[in-house]
Amino acid sequence: MKRVLLIEDLPQVAQHLQQMLSREKEAELVAVESEGDAALVRVTTEKPDAVLIDALLSGKSTGFDIAKRVRAASPGTRIVMVTVPQRPIDPKPDQGIDAVFVLPGGANELATALAIGKRDVRLKGRMIVCFSPKGGSGKTTIAINLATILRRRGHSVALMDGVMQFGSLRHALQVPPATRSIVDLPTGQGMRTSLSEVLWEGPSGVAVLLGPPRPEEAELMAAPDVAMAMQLLAEDHDYVIVDAPSKLGEETLAMLDVADVILLVVTYMQASIANTRAAVDTFEALGYKGKIPILLVVNQADNAAGMSKGGIEHTLNLPVVGEIPTDWKLVAESLNKQQPFVLSSPNAAVSKAIDALANALVQQQRR
Ligand SMILES: Nc1ncnc2c1ncn2[C@@H]1O[C@H](COP(=O)(O)OP(=O)(O)O)[C@@H](O)[C@H]1O
Ligand SMILES: [Mg+2]
Repeated sequence: MKRVLLIEDLPQVAQHLQQMLSREKEAELVAVESEGDAALVRVTTEKPDAVLIDALLSGKSTGFDIAKRVRAASPGTRIVMVTVPQRPIDPKPDQGIDAVFVLPGGANELATALAIGKRDVRLKGRMIVCFSPKGGSGKTTIAINLATILRRRGHSVALMDGVMQFGSLRHALQVPPATRSIVDLPTGQGMRTSLSEVLWEGPSGVAVLLGPPRPEEAELMAAPDVAMAMQLLAEDHDYVIVDAPSKLGEETLAMLDVADVILLVVTYMQASIANTRAAVDTFEALGYKGKIPILLVVNQADNAAGMSKGGIEHTLNLPVVGEIPTDWKLVAESLNKQQPFVLSSPNAAVSKAIDALANALVQQQRR
């Protein structure tokens, strides 16, 4: 079901489109707005799947201005311009025009413009959960640097601390002390409207959702709310990178349930591989395997310690998509100076390895 907002100031045209929408069983009218500012408020609160905008809207903002503002306020919303044959318009997604509906078009043209029947036209970001059953594997290091490099490439990126107690992101980035966190979000539907207020702008413009500042506040967070926050971030960002806990608890499972990719961080240590094997068995039992990609990244991959990449792939029956070398000094300093190493030392081998990991993930998504 597509939730559609209609932005139209001519009552007769509004009524005509409203009737057409009521006959389309896969569309549902959210509201009719006749003017730009009110429409924008509606877009922000309702995040409709699609908007129909009259290109000839009179009033202080034109249909084209509104389209750009809708795109900025809700990148996941499909924007359809409504026009007449005398005023042809070309779709220009970079200017907020995904499709055009020419009056007096029929039901099929309207459905095509709204992309009804085509699956998943709504742009939704990709949720990548970095997990490792063993603490100290490099989840936080990889999550921060991966998010930063994806952002540097022009994607919109959210980085979320999935660790509700003793999370690391707050300390690994230059976060001012009173910065708000996930505990400041209302639960349920209200979360959507408040989310942008608690995001902190991190390195290169990565939107960071922090975990609770105090350990006792972890209890205030229910697992479904943590997963909900993650999904809402995906509505407004191309990538959501989650630094997950090293524990398959309720919260981790809630996050994995909605994830698009599970990125397992392993090292060439028996404890890492054996525990990862156990985690993968659990994923299999839960039905994640086959449903979403489960990918391996080997951290400190230059210390094979008698193991091999092929051996790990065989043992875990999963592909290795990244190999990050060891750089004690740079990695530790980067965490302490709260500056991602991909920014401070873009030419270091670790940074190049993160870049290659980002490549592999972007390409894996195209497949
Ligand atoms: N590739 C690496 N080279 C050197 N040290 C690393 C590397 N990756 C992680 N570390 C170090 O290992 C420790 C744990 O890393 P961290 O990212 O906090 O792991 P996790 O989040 O899985 O607990 C940190 O002190 C970090 O400096
Ligand atoms: Mg960590």
